[in-house]
Amino acid sequence: MADQEYSHHLEVLAERWARALEAAGFDTAIVAAGSPRNYFLDDQAPPWRSNPHFTQWLPGGAFPHSALLLRPGQRPRLYFHGPEDYWHQPPAVPDWIGSAMEVLLFDDTLRLDAAVAAAAASNRTARIAEPGATAALPGVVDNPPLLLDLLHFERARKTPFELACMREATALAVRGHAAAHAAYLDGASEYRIHMQYLLASGQTSEDLPYPSIVAQNTHAGVLHYQHYDRDPPTVRRSFLIDAGATWRGYAADVTRTYTAAGAPDGDVFESLVTALDRAQLALIAGIRPGLDYVALHEAAHRAVAAILAGHALVTCSAEAAFDTGITRAFLPHGLGHLIGLQTHDVGGLQAEAAGRLRPPPAIYPALRLTRTVEPDQVFTIEPGLYFIPMLLAELARADAGRYVDWSLVDRLRPFGGIRIEDNVVVTASGTQNLTRAAFARTQGTVQS
Ligand code: GLY
Ligand code: MN
Ligand code: MN
Repeated sequence: MADQEYSHHLEVLAERWARALEAAGFDTAIVAAGSPRNYFLDDQAPPWRSNPHFTQWLPGGAFPHSALLLRPGQRPRLYFHGPEDYWHQPPAVPDWIGSAMEVLLFDDTLRLDAAVAAAAASNRTARIAEPGATAALPGVVDNPPLLLDLLHFERARKTPFELACMREATALAVRGHAAAHAAYLDGASEYRIHMQYLLASGQTSEDLPYPSIVAQNTHAGVLHYQHYDRDPPTVRRSFLIDAGATWRGYAADVTRTYTAAGAPDGDVFESLVTALDRAQLALIAGIRPGLDYVALHEAAHRAVAAILAGHALVTCSAEAAFDTGITRAFLPHGLGHLIGLQTHDVGGLQAEAAGRLRPPPAIYPALRLTRTVEPDQVFTIEPGLYFIPMLLAELARADAGRYVDWSLVDRLRPFGGIRIEDNVVVTASGTQNLTRAAFARTQGTVQS
């Protein structure tokens, strides 16, 4: 990755932090990476990630105990913790930092913390750190809400460096998806598919931005299905894989759904998959700066209503399927979310930079993004259509249940459900679809 892009990224961050610090009434910020904590009564720790604000400045790797000192107009200062250790490999100062930061090396956390405290003492200082992870510093304000709001709002707009990282992450994910699909065609179990995904995407489980969802048959109707069956099902019907990748701390979040060849009623399910795929592309084609993401989410429900009516899953019109709320039983999650340093990136419900929230409409409580679409935002578009027993039971009890063809629904229940998920970048006039572009490149490679 070009150093130039990273330098430019740091310039953008420096401007954003300078503005945010001034608006929030501070002249210095400390960003603590944080440190892993062991399980209760244990000497083992769960997988650990740095404070995302730290990662945005130092993208890639884990740097426990290190901290950044940011003072507008000055080079960022990195208090780097590199202990002598023969139990673990200590982190090394990444060479790509170049001269972008002043680096102070410490082999001892007490001395590092004391140096940070001394530098903070005479200033109006804010610290962004995991609450309770380190001792309070006199005169230093921890996690001031306005500063966090301003930074979180801006994080939706990605720098060219961040976009490049997300393209790399997507390329890895798509390699994994191709291998996972091949393994599925081969009759593999969820566990085996999961392992093939990791291998092909070059990741360990801990590199993943979120635990892969590898779901065959009814498991596809469990939105965040978390197990990996060791045995393939006896009758193979469907396969939903929601699996991503990270590159230098930035995430890709990708879902595909497939129908097993020869599955009983597989033609109906496959027709639903095709229809949802088309609807997803049509939704993406309509994205422009200025659009309200809530309206897009509503458009997804209208599209699902049309699919339900078009496949005679409902006996009423598409309009009625939407108006009566039937679609909410088939699509219980949001159309998408911001993505970047976190799979579900922060700031999705902020109506403005200063933090006023715009909660999702009461009928769509799971929607994580209610912002106006703006250039350089990256978000997912992931419509779904599921056969979830609990929600179908609720629908059957409701008045609108009489519009559902329950015998057709019953034939489709064993397939679990469908989700198609891409990550898109908003441009001045529309979007770039990071995910489809990566799939097209992979297919090009296979054919050539
Ligand atoms: N993989 C989690 C999600 O799609 O939001
Ligand atoms: Mn997602
Ligand atoms: Mn996903």
